[in-house]
Amino acid sequence: MSLHSEIAKRRTFAIISHPDAGKTTMTEKLLLWGQAIQRAGEVKSRKTDKHATSDWMSMEQERGISITTSVMQFPYADNMVNLLDTPGHADFSEDTYRTLTAVDSALMVIDGAKGVEERTIKLMEVCRMRDTPIISFVNKLDREIRDPLSLLDEIENVLKIQCVPMTWPIGTGQHFVGVYNISEDKTYFYQKGHGTEIVEIESRDGYDYPDVRERIGEIAFREFEESLELAKMAHEDWDVDEFLTGKQTPVLFGTALGNFGINMVLDVLTQYAPAPKDHDTVERTVKADEEKFSGFVFKIQANMDPKHRDRIAFMRVCSGKYEKGMKMKHVRLGKEVRISDALTFLAGDREALEEAYSGDIIGLHNHGTIQIGDSFTEGETLNFTGIPHFAPELFRRVVLKDPLKSKQLQKGLQQLSEEGATQVFMPQINNDLILGAVGVLQFEVVAHRLLEEYKVQCTFEPVSIATVRWVHCDDKVAFEKFKKKAHDQLSVDGGGYLTYLAPSRVNLKLMQERYPEITFSATREH
Ligand code: G4P
Repeated sequence: MSLHSEIAKRRTFAIISHPDAGKTTMTEKLLLWGQAIQRAGEVKSRKTDKHATSDWMSMEQERGISITTSVMQFPYADNMVNLLDTPGHADFSEDTYRTLTAVDSALMVIDGAKGVEERTIKLMEVCRMRDTPIISFVNKLDREIRDPLSLLDEIENVLKIQCVPMTWPIGTGQHFVGVYNISEDKTYFYQKGHGTEIVEIESRDGYDYPDVRERIGEIAFREFEESLELAKMAHEDWDVDEFLTGKQTPVLFGTALGNFGINMVLDVLTQYAPAPKDHDTVERTVKADEEKFSGFVFKIQANMDPKHRDRIAFMRVCSGKYEKGMKMKHVRLGKEVRISDALTFLAGDREALEEAYSGDIIGLHNHGTIQIGDSFTEGETLNFTGIPHFAPELFRRVVLKDPLKSKQLQKGLQQLSEEGATQVFMPQINNDLILGAVGVLQFEVVAHRLLEEYKVQCTFEPVSIATVRWVHCDDKVAFEKFKKKAHDQLSVDGGGYLTYLAPSRVNLKLMQERYPEITFSATREH
């Protein structure tokens, strides 16, 4: 198969959802439909993050599983699908955000009883930065859910995206009959009890059948007809271009637990979601189907084996083809490296794959030389853009147990922050070291790894910082004036960039109003 057609058939996406909406269950069923697993139930074991935040040790033991499930590749129809895991629950971190910079589309899973929840809002904000196309799935139809029209309203109002219902649910909970596919004018019937296996889904033209009326009752049937009419009237017509620019989202209904509606998601994904997109670099735009290989690192994960210090760097291939044993240029270091042991991730097939294409993710063994945002090419100097650091939302002051080890502490914090899951800030006003993260578990991970890998024992103290912004201004005089005024709140981050540590959101807003010429940025590019 030609390079071009290999790339064209790839679909690289991630699931965005609030904890408990059904991401894990959905992932498992997607793998089932992709025939990457034979029966559902095999993925469940990795869900360690559900048990308390303090369980880092056992989490680490489970890393073996979660490393291999960070990326799941499986074929579907004529396509090759890459599903990237976005760490959730307690291990929610900057990686979760940054993973979204490595996908071409996202699947938003919403709990039908709960609607749009806080984590989904945050993740959508990140998708919005790149106008990532979003497919929506309303889950848990086997339970009583909220009125579907009001759910769509909420998605439109809160997430500022136009909904286009592709299917419409007939009944919910005990009376969930199935979904009516609007454009096909066809009903697909839900059969209980096949949550773990693939069965043929019964379908019939239209929806008006005596047995359907009987199952949900005449009143509910009339309500269904009314809401279907409203759903069709109240929403825009499907427009692929609007979807591809992130303005419209197709909405599907189903139940991940009941294994219903999953193939419809995969059908929409393979039919409409984009093939690998082009990527910007400082130097030029890299086309996904260029012959020559290139890629960037978006995530570094600690290895499960404490005896080996190496970590896995996850690289999104942006052009060309990776072949085992190929030479690559590590652009930041200006060094040639031969990569013979990259990991590729074909779920269900553990053999190391020999090749990977634009859109795929490969894992590189990293012995401390690779950082988030690093570019690799076949020789050209290219620096990919759009792989940001995100402003942390949680802050702690690091307290060292043994004052003689402050050098090691600083080095450890610096190196761990280069992996990108946490960030370190050094206030100008004192010698404090402030650690910032977007997920609370990261503090424990850092304390544990400082002890294991740097032999430094530390604890954390609360500190009154609400958020951080990278500050910048082209007008030198204005910048100096600001720096003087804001001195006590300024710090330098691990990359040497000036940041404003805001004690409260209100304070930040005031400062932004008072100093309009200063740029307060919530992200920093590598
Ligand atoms: P997450 O990864 O987004 O956090 O969600 P996960 O898939 O773990 O699902 C959270 C809970 O919701 C699980 O129940 C799961 O079984 C349930 N769930 C997922 N999809 C559906 C669905 O379509 N219908 C119904 N009724 N439930 C669904 P749990 O009791 O918290 O966990 P478990 O004991 O079942 O593992």
